Amino acid sequence: MAQGKTGEKPRHDISIIRPEVRAEQIKLRGENYPSERLEGIKKGLRALHTLELMAQTIYKFQITKEHSEMNGLLVAAMCNEMGHYQDFQVKLYEYGFRPSLLRWAYWLVGFGVGFGSRILGRRAVLKTGIWVESKAVHHYAQLLETIDWDDETRKVIEKDQADEDGHISRWKSMLAAVAPVPAEA
Ligand SMILES: [Fe+2]
Ligand SMILES: [Fe+2]
Repeated sequence: MAQGKTGEKPRHDISIIRPEVRAEQIKLRGENYPSERLEGIKKGLRALHTLELMAQTIYKFQITKEHSEMNGLLVAAMCNEMGHYQDFQVKLYEYGFRPSLLRWAYWLVGFGVGFGSRILGRRAVLKTGIWVESKAVHHYAQLLETIDWDDETRKVIEKDQADEDGHISRWKSMLAAVAPVPAEA
């Protein structure tokens, strides 16, 4: 239950940034669930889906055209978040739900945060990543604790949460390697 706290060892292979999904794993869910359980799952999936849209948009707008290690890592993170977005979109439709109509607002926030941090430079990009991902890990933990998920959906959420934890570690180690003041010769 105490999963997801930053610093714990994830039980998932976070080097797999786009896990395989087989056709037989897609199934319609939620039949005979009590309405309160369905309501909780719907709210949780919509929150995760919109937040993952924001996450992938932040990374997308942080990437520059420079051929650098940092950009490679940002592309990998963007790919990872696109997979998370897909995960929750699939789950929404498996349950017969629909995405939030307000998700465009999260795209806008993602654009603002992503582009804004890119303009401010590498340290701002890394600090933004750490801040956003820490919020995400915390939010994931709350949703895992408070919602009665089906086992398969729970596993997906746990893997995605472990990915977010991995992002925090990566950005922290990158930040430690960056000079305190922009000192590019
Ligand atoms: Fe994510
Ligand atoms: Fe992430």
